[in-house]
Amino acid sequence: MRLFSAAVTAMALTLGATSAMAAPIEIKFSHVVAENTPKGQMANKFAELVAERLAGKVEVKVFPSSQLFGDNKVLEAMLLGDVQMAAPSLSKFQKYTKTLQLFDLPFLFKDMAAVERFQGSADGQKMLTSLESKGLVGLGYLHNGMKQLSASDPLKVPADASGKKFRIMTSDVLQAQFEAVDAVPLKKPFSEVFTLLQTKAIDGQENTWSNIFSKKFYEVQPYITESNHGVLDYMVVTSAEFWNDLDADLRSEVKAALDEAIAYGNNIAAEKAKSDKQAIIDSKRSEVIEISAEDRALWVAAMKPVWDQFSDEIGADLVKAAAASNQ
Ligand code: LMR
Repeated sequence: MRLFSAAVTAMALTLGATSAMAAPIEIKFSHVVAENTPKGQMANKFAELVAERLAGKVEVKVFPSSQLFGDNKVLEAMLLGDVQMAAPSLSKFQKYTKTLQLFDLPFLFKDMAAVERFQGSADGQKMLTSLESKGLVGLGYLHNGMKQLSASDPLKVPADASGKKFRIMTSDVLQAQFEAVDAVPLKKPFSEVFTLLQTKAIDGQENTWSNIFSKKFYEVQPYITESNHGVLDYMVVTSAEFWNDLDADLRSEVKAALDEAIAYGNNIAAEKAKSDKQAIIDSKRSEVIEISAEDRALWVAAMKPVWDQFSDEIGADLVKAAAASNQ
């Protein structure tokens, strides 16, 4: 009997201690791509680093492939406190700020090194604060890579795109970019792209090698034009309410883990831009079309006037500074 009551007391003490211990702060990280992508790998690395360094204090739960929210809903959900972090592409913030439309201007950056230089500049860093008035905090940029054009027919010159339906992200700049070559752009969520292509509801889309490979778009798109006409990068964001509520020390530890995870993701982005392209070529499911310098000049001439349409909204000085990062 004595033994039994001692056991009950011990159990009660343990239960009491457990309930007195605070549960770890949960960071739900929602994204739309596959796990074997720069963003997927970055998010998993972030969760791993936080688990190693902040066990019992903070826990990161990653939800890939639009399992929790699509990119078009995730920012609303963040402001409601239903998710704490996400990394939508820079093309998906237009409802919250016009400035980030800069990154969608066609043929603005000649390569990822230019993108990196601009993002690291004072102008680029300032753009991380462009969501502040909407209650969102930009924690850093993450690369995916340069976009290519995939289609059901070969696209060599701008006239080949005429009348064709292309899925685009929710961006007016991207809409103008396709309208500039007389194509028909349709704003659709990433999660629907494969089915739209497979059922031939649309003719093509623009994306990075990594997204075209990991979501198997190349299996239903017989041609991919290596156009490198734009950039697909991300901003890792959180809500000001969540971020400012964190204890200062904890916040800087979380930020350090995130910065490390972003550097890791950026290396993967650079690798995947090559290896996923090669994997697509090796699959023989899709023909990769290289365009000549003359044909490329035709695409540039057709699409570049889009800059003038958006330069006032974005800020002419920013457009100039971004273009200067090519040197
Ligand atoms: C897209 O919608 O095509 C991309 O933004 C998906 C992503 O997050 O890379």
